[in-house]
Amino acid sequence: MIKLILTDIAILTVVSVFFAILLVIAQRFLSNYGILKININGKRDVSVKGGNSLLSSLSEEQIFIPSACGGRGSCGACKCKVIEGGGPLLPTEKPLLTKAEMDSGIRLACQVKVKTEIKIDIPESIFNIRRFKTRIAKIEDYTYDTKGITFELLEPGTISFKAGQYMQLETQPYGKVKQKVVRAYSISSGPQNDKQFQLIIRLVPEGMCTTWVHNYLKEGDEVYLTGPYGDFFIRDTDADIIFVAGGSGKAPIKSMLEDLEVKGTDRKMTYFFGARTTKDLYLTEYMQHFEQVLPTFQYIPVLSHPSADENWNGRTGFVMPFFKEVMRDPKNTEAYLCGSPGMINAVTKALVEMGVPTEKIYYDSFG
Ligand SMILES: Cc1cc2nc3c(=O)[nH]c(=O)nc-3n(C[C@H](O)[C@H](O)[C@H](O)COP(=O)(O)OP(=O)(O)OC[C@H]3O[C@@H](n4cnc5c(N)ncnc54)[C@H](O)[C@@H]3O)c2cc1C
Ligand code: FES
Repeated sequence: MIKLILTDIAILTVVSVFFAILLVIAQRFLSNYGILKININGKRDVSVKGGNSLLSSLSEEQIFIPSACGGRGSCGACKCKVIEGGGPLLPTEKPLLTKAEMDSGIRLACQVKVKTEIKIDIPESIFNIRRFKTRIAKIEDYTYDTKGITFELLEPGTISFKAGQYMQLETQPYGKVKQKVVRAYSISSGPQNDKQFQLIIRLVPEGMCTTWVHNYLKEGDEVYLTGPYGDFFIRDTDADIIFVAGGSGKAPIKSMLEDLEVKGTDRKMTYFFGARTTKDLYLTEYMQHFEQVLPTFQYIPVLSHPSADENWNGRTGFVMPFFKEVMRDPKNTEAYLCGSPGMINAVTKALVEMGVPTEKIYYDSFG
């Protein structure tokens, strides 16, 4: 009896091993797509190894499609037009695409796999995005959870960007984290200094990139970033400006103000900085110096949860009720918002209710 059972187990094991080997061989052959061509804008062909995402295949060729969430399929930044060869639309893409986008062949480059020759259309501006080798020149503590980090450019040695744009930072494996990740960070310094730039990075508990930045990165380390990305920059009009950004959302606004300090402007501008307590305030004196050099600018910090012992005598609560103090003509007002999706939604709703046209509300959502 025992002999019979053992024979059965042996036969079963041999059969399982046989099918497992067959599966591995089949997978090897089926997923070996060979070298495939991606045709870009009907002008240029690049040859890539098939089977990888369109996003990573292009990045191997030094063509950097924006990918603020690092290819996780949650930001929608990597949208591009696939004319031929993208395969069927995937369930992971649908939540981030409108009906019109789906109908016109827009896809998420991080989700589309290159399994056959593909034809795509991407904006020419993408070819200006570069990968930079940098060295950390300075790390400054702004608050208990927020650091300012200055990157000195090594190769290429200079960068050209618009105030408000962002970079994508690549981490290195650290501690128990074996893989590299990519995350988006707005440039916080003005574009006049083209040999270095600064980012302001707030620690997210358990966050893969921010833990690396806060706990492992040191002055002198070499770091790679790609960029510049994005269309969050001040439009060239005469409209009044309302900036709203709390936490590390201050980064692109600081860059814009440094740029305006050099260029000069007489536009009426107000920056509402929302924070919980005085512990979350930073660069306050630096923001106040812009009130001196840009006489039409005002900096208004608003605390939502100051405690009695903080002796805070500034504005408290949400920032929205204070907009009416500075709003002259809603129709001729632009808003630049930066931070969490929740804050952006709430502030946009309040501004639209006050009469600010939706198309004049610009934002970078950090979510
Ligand atoms: C265009 C753009 C510009 C950005 N600019 C900046 C900037 O200038 N400074 C800056 O500090 N960040 C900025 N961010 C956010 C940044 O890209 C990362 O999402 C953030 O630093 C978290 O990365 P992580 O790898 O540490 O966390 P992850 O490992 O990605 O996340 C860990 C956990 O925290 C949650 N989480 C992720 N992000 C946040 C958050 N911001 N707050 C609360 N919970 C979160 C996630 O849902 C997850 O559960 C920007 C994002 C975008 C899209
Ligand atoms: S990179 Fe964020 S959705 Fe594709």
